[in-house]
Order: sequence, then C-alpha cells, then structure tokens
Amino acid sequence: MQIPLASRVRNVQPSLTLQLSARARALREAGRDVISFTAGELDVGPPEAALDEAAAALERGETRYTPAAGTPALRAEVARRTSEETGVALEPGHVIVCCGAKHALYNVVQALCEPGDEVVIPAPYWLSYPAMVKLAGATPVVAPTRPEHGYRLEPDALAAAIGPRTRLLVLNTPNNPTGAVYERERLEAIAQIVRAHPRLFVLTDEIYGKLTYGEAHHVPLWRVAPDLFERSVLVDGVSKSYAMTGFRIGWAVGPAPVIAACTRLQSHATSGPCSISQAAALAALRCRDEPIEPVRALLEQRRARMVAALERIPGFELVPPRGAFYCFPRVGAWLGRTIDGRRIESALTLCEILLEQAGIALVPGDPFGAPDHVRLSFALGTDAMQRGLERLHAFLAEHAEGGD
Ligand SMILES: Cc1ncc(COP(=O)(O)O)c(C=O)c1O
Repeated sequence: MQIPLASRVRNVQPSLTLQLSARARALREAGRDVISFTAGELDVGPPEAALDEAAAALERGETRYTPAAGTPALRAEVARRTSEETGVALEPGHVIVCCGAKHALYNVVQALCEPGDEVVIPAPYWLSYPAMVKLAGATPVVAPTRPEHGYRLEPDALAAAIGPRTRLLVLNTPNNPTGAVYERERLEAIAQIVRAHPRLFVLTDEIYGKLTYGEAHHVPLWRVAPDLFERSVLVDGVSKSYAMTGFRIGWAVGPAPVIAACTRLQSHATSGPCSISQAAALAALRCRDEPIEPVRALLEQRRARMVAALERIPGFELVPPRGAFYCFPRVGAWLGRTIDGRRIESALTLCEILLEQAGIALVPGDPFGAPDHVRLSFALGTDAMQRGLERLHAFLAEHAEGGD
C-alpha cells in the first residue's frame, strides 16, 4: 500500500554512512572477516566519573523530566566552560542542552531559517547539514573548498556564495570529513565578510574542537570575532571528546532570543534531554580535559600510521587531517577504471567493491558532497586498523598493476 508521506520527509535520504555500517555488520554476522573504517565514534569508553555519576543519578532517583532547556547545573557548567574557551561572557540563558549536537544543530536551523532562505555550506560537509536545511524549507548553497587550500573555505568562495537571501553560514571546525582546522587568520577573513552582511548568521559546529593534532589547535570563532556573538551560535557536546555518543547530550550557545526560540521548539518536540545523561555529561565536563588528552594522544599516533599508509596507496591523494578522527583521501585516479569488469563510477562503487571483494568498509565521499573521495575513520583498534590498511594496500596495488 502506498502511504502518502509529507513532502519534507520524501525529500530526505536516509544516512548512507549508517547504511554502509549496517551492510558491513551484516557481512560480519554472516561470517565474513570485515574490517570497518566507518566508525563515527571513539572505540574507548566514557570517563569513569561520567559512568559513576549516571549510576549515582539513578540512585538519587533523578528519573523525572528536567526543564526543557536542560538542568540549571549543566547549563551553568556549559556557560562557564564556553566562556573560558571563547572569552565571551556567558550565562545559563545563553545555553540550551539538547539530545546530542545533531539535535542542537537541527533546533538552530529550525529557529533561524525559513522557506526562501539560503544556507551556505562549505563542501566537503557533514552529511546532515543539507538535510537539516531542507527540513526547514530553506535551500543549501554549497561553497566548494579545495585540497590545495587544505579544504578550508577561501574568503572569495564565501563571498561568491552569499546572496540577498543568505541567512546562515555553517562552519565546521575541525571538519568532518576532511579534518580541516580553521586557523585564526582564516576565521578573521571570514568574520570580515560576515560583518558586511547584517542578515547573515553563523552556526559553528565545534564538536571535534578538543581533537586536533600536530601544530593545529582549535580556535573558536568568538575568540577572533567576539562582536559577532549576537549573530552566531556555537554547537558542541560530549559525544566525540568524552566518547559519550550514546548518552545523546549536546548543546547550542548563542544570543538569548535564539536560545529561547530553540527552547520553545524543543519543549514541544522532545522536552528536556534525558536526566541521567545530563548528570553524566556534567560529571564529564567537570573532569575538564583530563580524560580527553590520553585519547587525543592515542588518536594522534593512529593518525600518523594511517597517513603514512594511505600515502603509499596507488591513486590516493591525501591532505593529512589536522583535527577530528578521519582521513579523507581523494581517489579520483580510480574513477572511470574497472575492477573485475565493474566500472568505478564514483567513490560509492569503489567502496562497494572494497567491501564485497576485500572485506574493507570505507565511507564514500558522495553524501559529503565529494564523490571522488573516501573517508576512513581512525577511531578503531590500532591492530585492526593496521591489518585493514595492509589489506587495502594489497588489494588496490594488485588492481592498479593489473590495469584492469
Ligand atoms: C560534524 C558533526 N557534527 C555533529 C555530530 C553529531 O554529534 P552528536 O552525536 O552529539 O549528535 C557529528 C557526529 O558524527 C559530527 O560529525
């Protein structure tokens, strides 16, 4: 039976990354040895203090609704920490706690964007941004970035993407999938352009802010442009830095009227987030960076190994990531070729072949707006990662030589 569905959901595709992870899991359950590089979450546990506090909150009977914008204690802690990191004076009224950073981003897009509005999204982008924009009835405008610019948005490309209907710029630093980290000078140049367009808001997704490598370090937009506070919202959460994806706690910080609008929306959509998770997130934040640093250092080692391995793979061109936990090599040299009679039309076909024939799961760049790239996460055990990279090298080296 054909059930007529609302056009807003008809236009949204299910997440391809989740589909591929599911396919890899199904093959593994059928007995195949599959090494998956698809993880969007860390392979370590949350901080002990967060787990203990979740249990303690249950013991205390904290099992009831919390205020729609989150518990006062967590909002105050987020305000304190964000003030410290950005230099902007913040109060709990500038913070809404949501069911994950994804939900925080969704609320903000819903609160700010109308049909007819345009939202500038630098590509490659995290795949949910365009879907969220469409769900608000607005139009995504993709602003391309280039490997030779380290996948950072060039001021000229931003200026070219802005028109009279532009309402929002989404800036994700460190970036998923490219690992690009915007440095101070680039943020200043972007801020200068934003200032010239009074209707334009900036939504910064800083969820990977604690995970940077080498010389790179995360600079919040407000550090360089505190004057843009009234026209920007910062999103962060505990999912990536504290390995707490399943707790579903993220937040948006910004001008009080925008936060109040998000709270009205959230009060009708989900109410406040899970009470136990909020208690656990508060405990994690009170540990500050202490539990994060060893994980970051481990990721830095894995990153070095993965970068070295990918640089040896024929037809892969990599800009080493400076943040987050993904490598995003360009695989354009493989497009148009054939492997065992199958023509590689885009990264998606290459990923299908690698999964079926080599037992390696990668994420194609297609849904990130980069169909000539693939994404490999280094948030997996070091041994499995090493084996997977060797297998990838062997398979592609064989087919590169075969010229087939
Ligand atoms: C760039 C980016 N933003 C937001 C999120 C969502 O985070 P959360 O799990 O807190 O909803 C993710 C998760 O993959 C992400 O990669």
